[in-house]
Amino acid sequence: MQVPESISNFPAGFLWGAATAAYQIEGAAGEDGRGESIWDRFSHTPGKVVNGDTGDVACDHYHRWRTDVALMKALNLGAYRFSIAWSRIVPDGRGGVNEAGLTFYERLVDALLAAGITPWATLYHWDLPQPLEDAGGWPNRATADAFAEYANVVSRRLGDRIKHWITLNEPWCSAFLGYWTGEHAPGRTSFADAIHATHGLLLAHGQATTVLRQNVPDARIGIVLNPSQVYPATDSELDRAAAYRQDGFANRWFLDPLYGRGYPTDMLALYGPNVVPEILPTDLEVIAAPTDFLGVNYYSSSFVRDDPQNRPLGVRHGPAPTDEKTAMGWAVYPQGFTDLLVRLARDYPTGPLYVTENGAAYPDEAPINGRVADPLRTSYYARHLAAARAAIDAGAPLQGYFAWSLMDNFEWAFGYTRRFGLIYVDYATQERTIKDSGKWYAGVGGRFFTPRNGGSR
Ligand code: FCB
Repeated sequence: MQVPESISNFPAGFLWGAATAAYQIEGAAGEDGRGESIWDRFSHTPGKVVNGDTGDVACDHYHRWRTDVALMKALNLGAYRFSIAWSRIVPDGRGGVNEAGLTFYERLVDALLAAGITPWATLYHWDLPQPLEDAGGWPNRATADAFAEYANVVSRRLGDRIKHWITLNEPWCSAFLGYWTGEHAPGRTSFADAIHATHGLLLAHGQATTVLRQNVPDARIGIVLNPSQVYPATDSELDRAAAYRQDGFANRWFLDPLYGRGYPTDMLALYGPNVVPEILPTDLEVIAAPTDFLGVNYYSSSFVRDDPQNRPLGVRHGPAPTDEKTAMGWAVYPQGFTDLLVRLARDYPTGPLYVTENGAAYPDEAPINGRVADPLRTSYYARHLAAARAAIDAGAPLQGYFAWSLMDNFEWAFGYTRRFGLIYVDYATQERTIKDSGKWYAGVGGRFFTPRNGGSR
């Protein structure tokens, strides 16, 4: 598939990247002093992950990072978003620092810089050290202090070479999938715990932002959310009110305090005092520490209707206005991507926006003669890039885009059964094969890539 005209005119300097996360690719779970995380514990608990898959080996990136950086270069990436495993750096969550963990990321970052690829580091992509969960997890506000300590250690060591920092990935998922539905680690099932966790996570973000700012004055710091574009299933007043509640739950609960407005009063009233934690007078100031960009992960949109029986939100997810779905069962809806980016820029002082994840799982076939034909994924990317371009035209300050994912990996509760990569991974041999979508994406990045280092690439 050619790069269509609609995406051939991204602004000069637009950043093209790809993303991964530590637990999903690294493996080496027990090596070099790494401590146990909630995902180790969860994936080793029978019944939690499809096929009993774990991240023990994953893509073995911990040993194959040199190969992987070479592949990133082949994909013409201008930036690589990865996450740092807290339990490699501070194995017990607090206290002693593990030198080997710092060395691993130092080498990776040096290799990226040598390849002309800008490192974007996420400090937390869901892998809380298990000892911190044992001490109460994210609902315990002391976890935020531990996170700030960890951010301090990492940024002191790597801040000279990492200038793009993301505090948290998708706190909505950490809180609600981890503490309410129990689909993700640590697998608790209390709505109140989840709401307490959101506050702990936002505090952690604010505290870490302040630490990063002190340690790396020229850093650009942001948070990554998975905001949802919510549409009422019908135009009825009840469905529109339901959509507003869903927006409060998925979006405003995070965005309002991040941008200095405090928690939305309608949601505070809906959740009630038994669910909402104590909010200390300075908390909101901490959470609203100024950031430099907002990272947005987008896969699909929400279509909701009123359902008073469905507590606590009184919302039911209805059918999408399209039958097209990815292997995750997520509706393919590029219009929602445009609408979301425009809405965020309209309603909040986000500064520059970056799409920090976008992509699709499809049931790829193993390589045949070194080729993986995945036209559906390329089509998904092409249509979503066109939608992102449309958002820029409509005024959204979008400055970069990271594909999810660089390579097939451990897709959380789905284990290895869902492939999102631009690169196919044969888990038996660890052989990597760039898919057709990856070759296509290399063409996108190659065409618009703005050379650095005096244009040496
Ligand atoms: C996002 C996660 C990422 C990946 C994609 C498919 O919610 O941040 O790790 O699992 O979904």
